[in-house]
Amino acid sequence: MNIRSLLSERIEAAFDSLGLQGDALLQTASRPEFGDYQSNGVMAAAKRGGLNPKEVAQQVIDTVDLKGIAKDLSIAGPGFINITLAPEFIATASTTPTPSDNPQCVVVDYSGPNLAKEMHVGHLRSTIIGDCVARVLESLGHKVIRQNHVGDWGTQFGMLLTFMDETGASSDSLADLEQFYRSAKQRFDDDAGFQERSRRAVVELQSGDPDMLVQWQKFIDISMSHCRELYERLGIGLTDADMDGESSYNDDLKNTVDFIASQGLLTESDGAQCVFLDEFKSKNGDPLPVIVQKSDGGFLYSTSDLACLRRRIGGFKADRVLYFVDARQALHFKQVFAVALASGISDANVDLVHMPFGTMLGKDNKPFKTRQGELVKLADLLDEAINRANQLLIDRDVQGKNPDIDDAELARLAEIIGIGAVKYADLSKNRTSDYVFDWDQMLSFDGNTAPYLQYAYSRTRSIFARGNIDPDSLTAPVISVDEPERRLGVAIAGYQDLLEQVAQDGYPHQLCAYLYDLAGRFAQFYEQCPVLTSDDETKLRRLTLTKQTSEVLESGLTLLGIGVAPRM
Ligand code: ARG
Repeated sequence: MNIRSLLSERIEAAFDSLGLQGDALLQTASRPEFGDYQSNGVMAAAKRGGLNPKEVAQQVIDTVDLKGIAKDLSIAGPGFINITLAPEFIATASTTPTPSDNPQCVVVDYSGPNLAKEMHVGHLRSTIIGDCVARVLESLGHKVIRQNHVGDWGTQFGMLLTFMDETGASSDSLADLEQFYRSAKQRFDDDAGFQERSRRAVVELQSGDPDMLVQWQKFIDISMSHCRELYERLGIGLTDADMDGESSYNDDLKNTVDFIASQGLLTESDGAQCVFLDEFKSKNGDPLPVIVQKSDGGFLYSTSDLACLRRRIGGFKADRVLYFVDARQALHFKQVFAVALASGISDANVDLVHMPFGTMLGKDNKPFKTRQGELVKLADLLDEAINRANQLLIDRDVQGKNPDIDDAELARLAEIIGIGAVKYADLSKNRTSDYVFDWDQMLSFDGNTAPYLQYAYSRTRSIFARGNIDPDSLTAPVISVDEPERRLGVAIAGYQDLLEQVAQDGYPHQLCAYLYDLAGRFAQFYEQCPVLTSDDETKLRRLTLTKQTSEVLESGLTLLGIGVAPRM
C-alpha cells in the first residue's frame, strides 16, 4: 500500500467536497514535531478560492475521512496539515515490496564501459546506480531488461587489433589492458605506417572482414572477462546475455538512416546526413544538426543509439528506457530522443529518460586520479577498500570480542564492509552532483554509511540470537503502544512508498536516506524500549518490530547491492 497516495486521495476528496481545487502536496514530515506526514496543498487551494488558508485547513481536517488511518491531525504555520498515523493502520503494513498493479517493461541501460581499457572509477557510478534501480524495479514486479551498451566498435579498435596482430599478443599481454592500450597508442603516435594500417583495420572490421572479426572477438572476450570479474566482486547483476554492445547494431545502422530518411527528416549538409529539429539551436540561434552519417559514410554514436532504440522499443516492447549515463552526455540523449520521437522510432507512450550522474572527485576536488595522473582502476580501488575494512575489523578487535568468528568469516566481513562502503558512499549521494571520495567517511561506523547500516542490521539479529528466538515465529501484526514503537512502525510502513519513488525517479540516495532514518528510529526504540527483559506481551510486540526492522534493512541493503552479516 502506498501511504502517500492514500492520504492524498483522502485529502483531495475533502478538497472536492469543500469545493476546493488542488493537489494535497503530500510529503513525509520534515521533523518529528510535524507528525508523520504533511499536506502542504491547502495554501494554494485556499488562495485559488480567495479564502483564509488557516480556516480552510480546519475545514479540511473536519471533513477528511481518515478514520482508522490517522490518529491526529493538526494545523501548523499558515495552513500546513500535520498527520500522525494510527497504530492500527501501521499494523497492516508489510515489509516485503508489493508488486505494481501496472507492471511495465523497463530497459535499464547501465555500466556500458568502453572495452578498449580496463574499468576504472569513472565506470563505477553508472554500474552501481543502474544496478540498484534495476533491482528496485524488479522488486516491484516490473519486467527489467538490463542492457550493457559496451563501447566495442569505436575507431580505437583498429589500433588495438593491429597492435595485437603485429606483436602476436597473447592473453597474458592483455591481462593489463591499460598497459596494452598505452603501448598500442605509443606505437600509433610514433609510427606513421602503423597508423595507416590501423585506419585500414577499422574499416575492414566494420565492414565485416572475417579475419578481423576473429581477432576482434578475442580482444572483446578478454576485455569482457575483466568486466565480469569486477561485476562479480561488486555483486552486479549483469551477465553476458545483457551485453548488447555498439557492435551489435552494426547491421542495422544503414537501415536506421534509411528509415529516418523515409520519414523525410534527413538533410545533407557538407556531405553529412543530418536531422535538423527546431528545438536544437546553437548559441547564436543557428540550426544545430544531429548528424547520423558522416560524409565518408561512417556512422556515429547517435546512429547506434537510434538503432538501439529500434531494438528496445520495436523488439523488446519497452514502456520505459532508462539510461544511467554521465551527465556530460545530456545533449546526446536529448538529440537521440528527439530524433526517435520525430521519426516514429519512439512515440509518446514510451518514456525515454536519461538519468545523469556527476563525477567522482578526489580530495582535491578534481576527478579521482592516481599519483601518476591516471584514473584509478576499479580493481585497485576494491582491493584497497577490502584492505582498509580488514584493518578496521582488526582495530575494532572484532575477533577478540567474538572469538568464534574464524578467519574465513572475518575475510567475508572485510569484503562486504569494504565493497559495501564504496558502493554506499556513491549511492547515498544525490547522483546528479559530483562527490568527493573519502575513505575515512565511508568506512566510519557513524553517520549515513554502509558500516553503520550493516551494524544496525547485525544488532537486530543479535537480539534474536541472545534471546534464542526464531524470528520466523513472529507473524502477528503489531499494534504499537509506546511512541518509539509507533515511530519505528511508521518508517517500516513507508517502505513501499519509498521503493515506488526510487523506481520512478531513479535516485538510490532516497533509499539510503530512508534506511538511515529507519536505523536511527530503531536505535531510539532500542534505547527507550527494552525488548528481551519486558513482560511477555510487550516483548512479543517489540520483538516483532525488531524482526520487521531487520527485514526491511536486509531488503533495502540487498536492493542497494550491499551485503549484510548476522554479526560484526
Ligand atoms: N560506452 C558509453 C561511454 O562510455 C556509454 C554507453 C551508454 N549507453 C548508451 N546507450 N549510449 O560513454
